[in-house]
Amino acid sequence: MSKDSEIALATAALREGKLVVFPTETVYGLGASALNAQAATAIFEVKERPHFNPLIVHVGHPEMVSALTREVPEKAKRLMEHFWPGPLTLVLPKSPLIPDIVTAGLETVAIRMPDHPVALELLRNSDLPIAAPSANPFQGLSPTQFSHLSPQILSKVAVAIDGGGCRVGLESTILGFSGDDVYCLRLGGLALESIEAIIGPLAARPSAKTPQAPGMLPKHYSPQTALRLWNGEPPENPHRAAFLGFQKIPSGISFGKSLILSKTGDLKEAAQNLFSFL
Ligand code: TXA
Ligand code: MG
Repeated sequence: MSKDSEIALATAALREGKLVVFPTETVYGLGASALNAQAATAIFEVKERPHFNPLIVHVGHPEMVSALTREVPEKAKRLMEHFWPGPLTLVLPKSPLIPDIVTAGLETVAIRMPDHPVALELLRNSDLPIAAPSANPFQGLSPTQFSHLSPQILSKVAVAIDGGGCRVGLESTILGFSGDDVYCLRLGGLALESIEAIIGPLAARPSAKTPQAPGMLPKHYSPQTALRLWNGEPPENPHRAAFLGFQKIPSGISFGKSLILSKTGDLKEAAQNLFSFL
């Protein structure tokens, strides 16, 4: 089937309140209409995600933000101009258009415009904001390849679109706003240095006022195989273990498999490979 027909099917599914899996430049998303409370509820059920954990709403145009929010701080506007479409999510005061289930009852909504032709085409074709968490079961690793999507997710969606490997490979960076302050809620695919180059230094994160992002939960991005920080000691059965390193393979130990995130030490390449190698 052509990409256009897959996008047409996914558009129809979203309008009927069904779920779709679609590629973004960061990770694959499990999407539903962000204006449909029942559809958004189904996302939580399929992922087995706790209801206190709000979803990110994706838009196909920056102009869509004004309908979904009550106000947009000046610094947020500058960030959108510089980094959208791209791996940057902004948490803004929500308008009544967004059902409470999407934001877990919070007065704010997290919004981003993804930089992937399939995601953008789907958003524009459906003319809907799409609520989408990463398309993994709760606490699992975020899929950055179509082949990494789990049967638990794939069996529950109307359409799943294969968009190949995700270029960024890490989830979006999330920023919050408080007065003139901007603070980071989750590190991700856009470096804080790039953000600070546009709006100046980020503020320390206000503690009690903001909810924890799940990246801060004790268990997250969890592979099914035991994972240990390597201290240089040979493991008991090196041939049954895989080594995952940043730039170099250690000499003198025969690991069953060795994976290097970036031979040239490039952080972007390492980020792209991390979830996929795990
Ligand atoms: O790159 C990404 O952001 C991917 C793709 C699919 O766009 N999506 C993604 O969604 O990572 P998810 O559900 O895995 O992570 C959403 C994060 C959570 O940490 C959640 O707590 C935070 O966004 N979040 C959402 N709404 C929020 C809000 N109103 N205030 C604070 N944090 C919020
Ligand atoms: Mg996730």
